[in-house]
Amino acid sequence: MDKLVREVGPWVDKDRFWDREQELTDLIELLDEGANILITAPRRIGKTSLIRETGNRLADRYCCIQLDLQKSHSPADVITELSVATRPYMDLWKKTKEVFKNVISPLTNIDSLNINDLSIKFRDDLLNYWQDKGNRMIEVIACSEKPVIIFMDEFPLVVNRILKGPDYKMTPERLKETDAFLSWIRSITIQYKQKIRIVLTGSIGLEPILHQARLSNTINTFTPFEVNPWDKETASGCLAALAFNYGVVFENGSKEKMIELLGSCIPHHVQMFFHHIYTDCKKRSSMKCTMEDVERVYNSLMLSIRGHAELRTYEERLEMVLSSDILPLALELLTEAAVVGKLTAEAAMVLCRDFFPNDLKPGEALREIIDILEHDGYLVKKKEGHVFISKLVRDWWKSRFGYQYTPAARRTIAS
Ligand SMILES: Nc1ncnc2c1ncn2[C@@H]1O[C@H](COP(=O)(O)OP(=O)(O)OP(=O)(O)O)[C@@H](O)[C@H]1O
Ligand SMILES: [Mg+2]
Repeated sequence: MDKLVREVGPWVDKDRFWDREQELTDLIELLDEGANILITAPRRIGKTSLIRETGNRLADRYCCIQLDLQKSHSPADVITELSVATRPYMDLWKKTKEVFKNVISPLTNIDSLNINDLSIKFRDDLLNYWQDKGNRMIEVIACSEKPVIIFMDEFPLVVNRILKGPDYKMTPERLKETDAFLSWIRSITIQYKQKIRIVLTGSIGLEPILHQARLSNTINTFTPFEVNPWDKETASGCLAALAFNYGVVFENGSKEKMIELLGSCIPHHVQMFFHHIYTDCKKRSSMKCTMEDVERVYNSLMLSIRGHAELRTYEERLEMVLSSDILPLALELLTEAAVVGKLTAEAAMVLCRDFFPNDLKPGEALREIIDILEHDGYLVKKKEGHVFISKLVRDWWKSRFGYQYTPAARRTIAS
């Protein structure tokens, strides 16, 4: 029987990484064939964990460069991350130092600088000539003995920032810079085919952002790769391995009840649920977990303020991708879906008109929002309308925003 150590939040790899064997096999097959890959998946599915584990498994055959672009705002920031990431590879680092020798005084021992100081120096140098230095860095990386995979996590966040800036406005200059950056990435995939592969992923979807900017063609050298929630068997196996490790005994049907309550087995939610069950067992001084315990823990701990804090990330990511004028409408659409159980096209139009009574084309803002909500795994389109994919996220949304909410149908009657 397998044992698994819990981890609730940060990415996992090695012995904390559960399953995803099929995804790993498929991803590695594609990379071996020379593909560049765009991983698309909803929030908290385990995208970062998957690329980290892929990197581990390929470390002997490829030079794997992992970039976390969470804090990057510009092409210069991305190239800075790329440059400092070559440091663990002696052969590449020697050449990187050559590229940046103009910014390091001959009296400074570059190897004695910490990553922060190095990043500041590199970034200053890159601000004006990111393309030139970026090209030189790619040449350096292409010299690696092994083929290279550059994993760029949170890539859509940087693209969104370059495109919209701090005020979420697409200006012609920002559009031009985004186009130049994406074209540069695209040119790497064409010019260094077979030598360098790029894997893009992130916690917000890239396609809706590029669609808004009419730049979708810039990523057509990337093969889309979908990662879905775990199926019931995988989630059940994970819960069993966690339970075995911590001595929790699931009584008849309680494990299945957990899966039923979640509705969609998003790995982070599975781990979070187990963590609360285990904490509850310890508090009760009994390692037995019944169906009633599961329901009680779900309604109290999972939907509690603490649960809210962990699920706040769903709200935060929307704040990052939507402008402040349409964000309140997006939140309202989700509240309608949570409270009523579905979001119909008519209800969406009523809410949109409430927000933008003078808008002649209300459909445009709606389309942008629905695109993002579908793509990022909040809602799925069913016959009856859009519904939440995850029951947990729906319940949480309802308990956070549903209080005193007036559904769209009642508003039309009132008006
Ligand atoms: N393969 C896995 N095995 C075990 N737990 C996992 C696995 N993948 C994800 N998790 C759980 O999900 C959490 C988040 O993982 P990760 O950061 O990889 O997700 P993500 O999809 O990158 O999230 P985000 O959308 O915020 O970027 C982990 O802390 C862990 O609880
Ligand atoms: Mg991630």
